[in-house]
Amino acid sequence: MKKIEEFLESISFDKRLYKYDIQGSIAHVKMLTKCKIIADSEGKIIVKALKEIEKEIKTGKFEFHPSLEDIHTHIEKRLIEKIGDIGAKLHTGRSRNDQITLDMHLFLRDEIKEIAKLIRNLQKSILKVAEKNIDVVMPGYTHLQHAQPILFSHWIMAYFFMLDRDWERLLNTFDRVDVSPLGAAALAGTSHPIDREYTARLLGFSKVAPSSMDAVSDRDFIIEFLAHASLIMMHLSRLSEELILFSSKEFGFIELAEAFTTGSSIMPQKRNPDVCELIRGKTGKVYGNLMSLLTTMKSLPLAYNRDMQEDKVPLFDTVDTLKDSLSIYAQMLDTMKIDKKRMLAFLEGDFSMATDLADYLVKKGLPFRKAHQIMSKLVKETIKKKKGLNALTLKDFKTYSKLFDRDVFETIKVEAGIAARKSLGGTAKESVKRLIVQGKETVKKK
Ligand code: ARG
Repeated sequence: MKKIEEFLESISFDKRLYKYDIQGSIAHVKMLTKCKIIADSEGKIIVKALKEIEKEIKTGKFEFHPSLEDIHTHIEKRLIEKIGDIGAKLHTGRSRNDQITLDMHLFLRDEIKEIAKLIRNLQKSILKVAEKNIDVVMPGYTHLQHAQPILFSHWIMAYFFMLDRDWERLLNTFDRVDVSPLGAAALAGTSHPIDREYTARLLGFSKVAPSSMDAVSDRDFIIEFLAHASLIMMHLSRLSEELILFSSKEFGFIELAEAFTTGSSIMPQKRNPDVCELIRGKTGKVYGNLMSLLTTMKSLPLAYNRDMQEDKVPLFDTVDTLKDSLSIYAQMLDTMKIDKKRMLAFLEGDFSMATDLADYLVKKGLPFRKAHQIMSKLVKETIKKKKGLNALTLKDFKTYSKLFDRDVFETIKVEAGIAARKSLGGTAKESVKRLIVQGKETVKKK
């Protein structure tokens, strides 16, 4: 029999919800007294005992047994042990089915607030890096090939805006988490004259779930959260991938502080970017958690089914992974070093300015397609000669088009190419500065 008990239990993981379970029970008791379903004096005794139980759990004095299945049964059993029959009145007009989903709503409401703060915090770290390195230039990539020179600040600000969408998505989901299912009871409501609006107000919820059937069987709010969490991790994973590449010997653009890397057990020269690698790796697990609950919920008939107990482990795991990743990331960016000379060196003698030269010819009257053809030929032949753009003389340029003149040497400068891209959202310093100003306003939003 023992094995079955262990198979059914959820206390090993749902004890984490004790604070919310007690919070919900206190609101429920207060409502029962207000609606004269139990006596005031009884309500007071129950509330007092619940608060004592909370302290017992907090201080590690409370004993958990798998035979008592879950956190709800544990607390109720202890309540009855402490105050007898009065304690047995707590569960009037309620079921574990609305109780568990209430706990999950309360838990996720707090966690979303916390995670939203961590996102803002990371965004602030990004702003600091961008501001500090506003003038640093680097190769901008498409297909991981040198494309056009950009500002390093422009590069990192891209992640700021990804996180901003993440923040908005989370807060949007918050509206659906901020709903009280309490009072839905087992599935069909209750014959006791309860007041669902009152408990919702006591618990600080903005809304009451309209249908008792839906309230006890809905896990959409958790799935939404898991989906948003997957996107956040995807963003952090992409940034990690770039930091891993950029900190390699081949790139050498950045250096991560020692605390965020580890040494190799046999190769003394190595500093491995393990934190980035683990964040990239854990992203897979977070996606898995989303798929896990989506699959659990698929085909479940109304209303509550025990399958739903399987929502907790993936949710808790995602919450923990996400919070750790976000806070570690902010610290990692705060201590990251940048090698601006090396980034610039990669641009000197490459062909990142080829588009600017085509645009130069366009500005002198050539149709763009023709200018592009001329530049393609010029680049191809220069590469063949094992030279970079910066090695060409005016005479060399003139063999490709008579429109080339002395001012071509100004145009060819990396700084000039960057400064010229003043379009909205472009890489020119003034455009990036605008992004930073916009970003600073955004992070004030709570
Ligand atoms: N441990 C259960 C869960 O996590 C709590 C609700 C149990 N309800 C029931 N009718 N067995 O979903």
